[in-house]
Amino acid sequence: MKAKISQKRLAVLGAGKIGGILLRAFLKQGLISPKQAVATVQHSERAQAMGQELGIPVSTDNRAAARQANIILLCVKPQTVREVLEEIRGEVNADKLIVSVAASVPTPYLEKYLAADVPVVRAMPNTPCAIGCGMTGICKGSSAGASHVEMARALFETVGRVVVVDEKHMDAVTGLSASGPAFLYIILESLAEAGVKVGLPRDIATLLAAQTAQGAARVVLETGDHPALLKDGVTTPAGCTIDGILELEEGKLRVTLIKAVVKATQRAGELLFEK
Ligand SMILES: NC(=O)c1ccc[n+]([C@@H]2O[C@H](COP(=O)([O-])OP(=O)(O)OC[C@H]3O[C@@H](n4cnc5c(N)ncnc54)[C@H](OP(=O)(O)O)[C@@H]3O)[C@@H](O)[C@H]2O)c1
Repeated sequence: MKAKISQKRLAVLGAGKIGGILLRAFLKQGLISPKQAVATVQHSERAQAMGQELGIPVSTDNRAAARQANIILLCVKPQTVREVLEEIRGEVNADKLIVSVAASVPTPYLEKYLAADVPVVRAMPNTPCAIGCGMTGICKGSSAGASHVEMARALFETVGRVVVVDEKHMDAVTGLSASGPAFLYIILESLAEAGVKVGLPRDIATLLAAQTAQGAARVVLETGDHPALLKDGVTTPAGCTIDGILELEEGKLRVTLIKAVVKATQRAGELLFEK
């Protein structure tokens, strides 16, 4: 599938934070060559700067970009999706694939503004895609077939892991893994502060926190063991970890994290309808 993608032309419409991350990563990984990529942004000065930086054509012309592409990655804000779809509608047909990463925007909404048979895949990546360690949830629209899902999967697998989910779970994916890096950065920042509080230099405290988080996450991923079981393995009877855990429980860390993901998930369902 990667070989297939390398023969396609990719247009990233709305190459801002996440669009830029994905575009840079695809180019860096060699999934697509600069000759096969085009991108758009809203402001012409940004287009010029980005074009120079990446060595690809970057413009403000969505129609022209969509015309040239086989795969169109839609990375604008939810409220801008309709406007861009209406713009590119005449340039898109059943031979192309639209992949939208816009939070809150369901596939029936995307399909409503395109011709009936245009294949659409909705994706929700996260910012660690920048270093090939991303997490992306994808689901398909009504005209997309297995080959379109596989193409989207291959695209995002070059920048991390991919899960295919039912569309009803996409807001939850948004609240957990797309917002999640922000929650985890706050946890890492707090652990580093804690290290400073107990006397460690800040750079060492940050390294200890981040490497520990990475190690714990990799153990969960690689063993498949339940996190509670792994936590028990660190918790020596009458040792120091259990004292720390008591503080976490008293501070309601669990319920706070659960509530953060629930709120972010709820919010993910609202963005489209805001101006
Ligand atoms: N950030 C994340 O972690 C993340 C993760 C997953 C999904 N998403 C989704 O990705 C989308 C973009 O989020 P973001 O954080 O990347 O926002 P962002 O940095 O503001 O990027 C939006 C981009 O869209 C461009 N744009 C605005 N109007 C346009 C138009 N009419 N035609 C073409 N380009 C246009 C902007 O151009 P200028 O640069 O010229 O202003 C900007 O580059 C959202 O729908 C969000 O839900 C974000």
